[in-house]
Amino acid sequence: MARLLLLTALGVLFTLQMVSSTKLVCYLTNWSQYRPGAGKFTPANVDPFLCTHVVYTLATISPDNQLATIEWNDEDMYKQLNNLKLTNPNMKTLLSIGGLFNGVSPFVAMVFTAESRNTFIKSALSFLRTHNFDGLDLAWEFPGQNGSPLDDKQRFTALLTELRQAIMDEARDNKKPPLLISIKVGALSSTIDIGYEVPEVASKVDFISIMSYDYHGHWEKRTGHNSPLFNSSLDQGSHVHHNIESTVTYWLEKGAAADKLLLGFPTYGRTFQLTSSYSGLGAPANGPAEAGPYTREAGFWSYYEVCSFTSTGTVGWITEQKVPYATHGNSWVGYDNKESYAAKAQWLRGKDLGGASVWTLDLDDFGGAFCADGAYPLVSHLRNSLGFPPKPTTTVGPTTTADPITTFCRGRPDGLYPNSADGNTYFQCFRGNTYLHSCQPGLVFQDSCKCCNWP
Ligand SMILES: *[C@@H]1O[C@H](CO)[C@@H](O)[C@H](O)[C@H]1NC(C)=O
Ligand SMILES: *[C@@H]1O[C@H](CO)[C@@H](O)[C@H](O)[C@H]1NC(C)=O
Repeated sequence: MARLLLLTALGVLFTLQMVSSTKLVCYLTNWSQYRPGAGKFTPANVDPFLCTHVVYTLATISPDNQLATIEWNDEDMYKQLNNLKLTNPNMKTLLSIGGLFNGVSPFVAMVFTAESRNTFIKSALSFLRTHNFDGLDLAWEFPGQNGSPLDDKQRFTALLTELRQAIMDEARDNKKPPLLISIKVGALSSTIDIGYEVPEVASKVDFISIMSYDYHGHWEKRTGHNSPLFNSSLDQGSHVHHNIESTVTYWLEKGAAADKLLLGFPTYGRTFQLTSSYSGLGAPANGPAEAGPYTREAGFWSYYEVCSFTSTGTVGWITEQKVPYATHGNSWVGYDNKESYAAKAQWLRGKDLGGASVWTLDLDDFGGAFCADGAYPLVSHLRNSLGFPPKPTTTVGPTTTADPITTFCRGRPDGLYPNSADGNTYFQCFRGNTYLHSCQPGLVFQDSCKCCNWP
């Protein structure tokens, strides 16, 4: 009963607070649980109030076309993640399917016939409901490429059409809200042309996460930025299109509705090894800088690894492209920080896009252990820049001292409590952390119903 009241109160309060339809979709990856020390990330590290949608990456498709888990403890992780909806019932969760097996996407075999697609769709719907997910994210990289025949473009449309139909039928039969469908798509026009019948695909899905990153990396002989907002006067040939503005313009031109498109925000940077004393954009380079101590993948640093690097290195700003880079010795990294996030958020709002898609939660400074800027500095800043109401938090970290408000929840059970200093606000205790929420103007928190009401 107490739980029911709590849920109802939260549901009502958050519906009142969240007026915007903007989406902030955040991915987390199954492999981040294996990073060492403070880099280890599990669903317990997810802040249920940060993103509107959280996507668990990754599940796969078995040879007999069933949705299937990958890691030994995936089901446990699903439970941890989906239990966070008890704390914030407005958070939605999706399960992402993708990856490559022997270099080929598991989608290729599955989409081949109407019968195999039907088998998959049935298994996916039942799997998602069993594990309490709200939707399915299809991460096929990419239809028509990597061992996928050209007519997979049409088969992808067929899959989405049949999936949409099945989802609507299932929702009607079971009197539940329909499951969500999202897709993770490429950023370059060549990939888009080969892979997607854009208007058909866009009309079947709830949102489209554009992978607007990996535009440049150590596979090139000159330094270039991972995720620039605009082109650079140094760009030559097809590289003039390796930027967010070009990508989004192309998706819109091809017939995707703006409000279905989510701009991809990387919480990582791409590194190069410089080969001369020149260290600006377009500097000669050969291969990646050393792998990061936590992510351990050459050419790639998480934001929290970049933070440790920028404290000793030199930071520059690429004015034309509105993104930062940093150098130290012969290492170079093009990354994103709060300034570039704010610039991109402002730009996407100007285009009336549907919101942002973050790759990934586990690469931000999720625990606040590295950047001296609180937990989730990038994603929190993005949330603010997108115009969401302030996240109801005064988070308690080991570095915060002696503010009676932030320590309110120490030793208290999870739940909602009145704030004796201000009747318009109330505390939520969750895992020992204190979250300060506000009622709508004019309302006061009442302990008897654990809800906001007229005084
Ligand atoms: C996570 O998913 C990937 C992608 O399919 C898979 O290859 C991998 O084995 C999984 N686990 C880890 C630890 O990477
Ligand atoms: C770079 O982008 C600007 C703004 O969209 C555009 O006017 C210009 O033509 C682009 N440059 C090239 C070389 O494409």
